[in-house]
Amino acid sequence: MKNPFKYGETVSGEYFADRKKEIRDINECIKASQNMFIYSYRRLGKTSLIKNVLSLFKDEIIPIYIDLEKSPTINHFLKDYSASISQHFLGTKERLKEIASFFKRVIPSFEFADGKWRVSFDFSRTTTGIDKALDEVIEIPPKIAERCKRRVVVVFDEFQEIEQYNGKVFEKRLRASIQHQNDVCYIFIGSKTHIILDMFTNPERAFFRSAMVYPLDYIPDNELVEFIHGRFGSTGKSISKSSARRIVQLSNRSPYHIQLLCFHIWLVSGKRIDETQIDKALDEVLSAQNELYYSWYDSLSLYQKAVLLALSQEREIFSQDAILTYELKGPSTTQASVKALLRNNLIIKTKEGYDIFDPFFKLWLMKR
Ligand SMILES: Nc1ncnc2c1ncn2[C@@H]1O[C@H](COP(=O)(O)OP(=O)(O)OP(=O)(O)O)[C@@H](O)[C@H]1O
Ligand SMILES: [Mg+2]
Repeated sequence: MKNPFKYGETVSGEYFADRKKEIRDINECIKASQNMFIYSYRRLGKTSLIKNVLSLFKDEIIPIYIDLEKSPTINHFLKDYSASISQHFLGTKERLKEIASFFKRVIPSFEFADGKWRVSFDFSRTTTGIDKALDEVIEIPPKIAERCKRRVVVVFDEFQEIEQYNGKVFEKRLRASIQHQNDVCYIFIGSKTHIILDMFTNPERAFFRSAMVYPLDYIPDNELVEFIHGRFGSTGKSISKSSARRIVQLSNRSPYHIQLLCFHIWLVSGKRIDETQIDKALDEVLSAQNELYYSWYDSLSLYQKAVLLALSQEREIFSQDAILTYELKGPSTTQASVKALLRNNLIIKTKEGYDIFDPFFKLWLMKR
């Protein structure tokens, strides 16, 4: 029987929990051609959510999806974006001709193999050649919308990566082009929250006020509990609601960690899942991650380690009590370590104080 949990890739269908409100909100924005900027910490489900939206509304829109993390230079971007733009047209030869007519400086070549059309692109590699190709490509989505009489939705995943291209020039150019594109909805997605928030909320940046800022929240606990319960149930295994709730707590509501832990619980459990099986699976997960967690921990200075260990027990580490209990130094020394840990993405700032970002790393630290 197939494991009903999945992690490490985007999920859809029965592997995908909830997100009903977000799907409604994004659909409203698409209908109004309201550009959106969706952000969250890593692995909260941004890519899965947007891919589900694109597939749910595939009959009403033309989707163009690109992950900028996979396109490290402008040349890669040009090729990958052109390929994403063409994706919708790869069905038949007639449609290929249609898409080819949009490109002039970027030259597509089509190949039929294994029952499928594939497309690749070439263009002049001189600086002016690249500039002109870029101008052409970023103006194609509105042309497609006009020709096909359908709304085009362009998703730039890991959008913060455009900073790697040529600083702010590319940003300005893209912004100048998209602000006149009425039948195209742009959805920018990002996970390096401090970098990407600055792009959309700093008045000095090109994308300031260019999109609705939409922070992606956690999936509500009840939905997660139902999901866990239902997925085990679909393979004839039963789990009590209170055990499912414990899994949500251990995973700090992170869908990635829930799927990772449940995947292993499913492997070690019988028909009825009990607490000892959850503990056993958790131990297995932690020991499989031991080397990785040790490398994170080992890269820190002695005092950063002390601060991290304190934070694994306590959110408020600046109180007199915490200073005594965890043998911490004065606030400015602690603050410097906190800053370094934030930079390394090992901790995050929450309403209640600082917290270890990876919930299983936190459990690993608590056991030290
Ligand atoms: N709605 C969901 N229901 C169930 N599991 C989910 C859901 N969303 C995400 N996950 C789990 O979390 C993992 C990470 O999801 P995804 O890659 O979509 O997140 P992300 O926010 O795009 O991550 P990154 O910041 O690394 O780009 C998935 O592999 C899956 O296991
Ligand atoms: Mg993603």
